[in-house]
Amino acid sequence: MITEQINEKGFLDVAIDPTLDLFEEIKKLKKEKKAIVLAHYYQEPDIQDVADYIGDSLGLAQKAAQTDAEIIVFAGVHFMAETAKILNPHKKVLLPDLRAGCSLSDSCPPPLFKAFKDKHPDHLVISYINCSAGIKALSDIICTSSNAQLIVESLPADQKIIFAPDKNLGGYINKQTGRNMVLWNGACMVHEIFSLEKITKLKSRYPQAKFIAHPECEEAVLAIADFIGSTTQLLKYSETNAADTFIVATEAGILHQMQKNAPHKTFIAAPPNNACACNDCPHMKLNTLEKLYLCMKYELPEILMDEELRIAAKIPIDRMLSLSKQLGLVG
Ligand code: 13P
Ligand code: SF4
Repeated sequence: MITEQINEKGFLDVAIDPTLDLFEEIKKLKKEKKAIVLAHYYQEPDIQDVADYIGDSLGLAQKAAQTDAEIIVFAGVHFMAETAKILNPHKKVLLPDLRAGCSLSDSCPPPLFKAFKDKHPDHLVISYINCSAGIKALSDIICTSSNAQLIVESLPADQKIIFAPDKNLGGYINKQTGRNMVLWNGACMVHEIFSLEKITKLKSRYPQAKFIAHPECEEAVLAIADFIGSTTQLLKYSETNAADTFIVATEAGILHQMQKNAPHKTFIAAPPNNACACNDCPHMKLNTLEKLYLCMKYELPEILMDEELRIAAKIPIDRMLSLSKQLGLVG
């Protein structure tokens, strides 16, 4: 009966006693089931506070590869939980809401990408981790925003490369490295929504503030940034830089950790180009504390994968993990 409910909705729709302290219940379930909760910085604050580990995509993949927990509960989006499953075929990997997808990953369907790749037979494929297992299986190396530049630079300068699926990150790496990678035309709906005009106005209102941005943002936004980096890199910069005010162009969930790590500093979410809170990722925010609790209690919804696809998708992830280790990169 429980499984049928998931099939319909993508998450468990079971009533919860409102007097339950979900933080305590989740802590108990973690212990009882030898489960680890891995959360991305874009999750809601309650989930970040109950997680065992919070990180960027590289850190989360590294943690998933190393954990000895029996159950991995992934508070993030589908491609992240899928990556954890690819690395841990014998472990149960749970995602509180199976519908938590990613617009960037959706912008690159494997059959179309295969046709694109076939047109460039002498190119290697570097894919950003924000893609499906089907795209990973068509790739030579996976990267994240924290290691993309070093991974590209690890290849010979004359090596032809296709970079997928994020054209903004790919364009930024082309600029940084002087390469001319062929870019797949994909983008993240959250990072493309920032308003250059409103950010420019905010910068004049707070002239001492540092403007920091994720490389998934558009080129014009990146052009005015004081610092560009992955979520972990943005967090570290905001903690260690002497400035006391930061305008932050990435998903607004990261502000929770920034504020926790530097309570005396001011963090302003960069404004989107309309009035709604569109710098909240609608996919990430499908997960809630309630869904996290239910998924741990019933051990559903679970990530399941075709074994042949899993093995093919693991090869470029392993390359990324060993290259990151060699380069001393931790997410
Ligand atoms: P990082 O956390 O690796 O910077 O990625 C951001 C992102 O968009 C995840 O979906
Ligand atoms: Fe995907 Fe963008 Fe959401 Fe990250 S923020 S999960 S890239 S849609």
